[in-house]
Amino acid sequence: MKPIISPSILSANFAYLANDIEMVNGSEADWVHIDIMDGVFVPNISFGFPVLKYVAKFSEKPLDVHLMIVQPEKFIPEVKALGARIMNVHYEACPHLHRVVQQIREAGMLPAVTINPATPVAMLRDIINDVYMVLLMGVNPGFGGQKFIEHTVRKVCELRELITVTGSEALIEVDGGVNLETGARLVEAGANALVAGNAVFSAPDPVAAIRALKNL
Ligand code: DX5
Ligand code: ZN
Repeated sequence: MKPIISPSILSANFAYLANDIEMVNGSEADWVHIDIMDGVFVPNISFGFPVLKYVAKFSEKPLDVHLMIVQPEKFIPEVKALGARIMNVHYEACPHLHRVVQQIREAGMLPAVTINPATPVAMLRDIINDVYMVLLMGVNPGFGGQKFIEHTVRKVCELRELITVTGSEALIEVDGGVNLETGARLVEAGANALVAGNAVFSAPDPVAAIRALKNL
């Protein structure tokens, strides 16, 4: 199975965002990954809903929205209004994760739970059968272009094992530090979906970069 590719527009040129969205539209990308930050959960701020309204309008690919914010449940209506397919919330940001996952589903979106590099896969044991996807961070969230944290490959293997023993159908997505080299190892370990920011938008030919990731 070819991996699902979700280019992260965090690394796009915001002055010409429509151009980059059109590029993604015309590429072999499956989704478009949208990173929302609040300067509290992560030490950076990206973009908010007034900007994303236009991203959603131009994108022909389903939106894979990644909220790096505290209390992400407050924004379920806003994410839904964008027409998002997937809403990723952080395990570390949700003391009542089970409730948030149900709320996302009730809103008509696919719930995904994200874990930071220091959060063990074992913490997902009691939510794995309720989520559409798990997003494993390959870097500490907040910035594009960071170095891949190696133990993420082992975490993909552990998550694949957890999915097997629990009979879950959750997809495994990895975000941060993904390029052709790390991507190949992640897919080999059992990842279904790859987010890529820098590896796509800093490439001389982003469409070719997406194609190369798709064909890993
Ligand atoms: C990091 C974001 C990522 C980021 C990945 O906090 O969640 O989606 O855009 O960027 P790269 O692929 O450059 O590591
Ligand atoms: Zn992300």
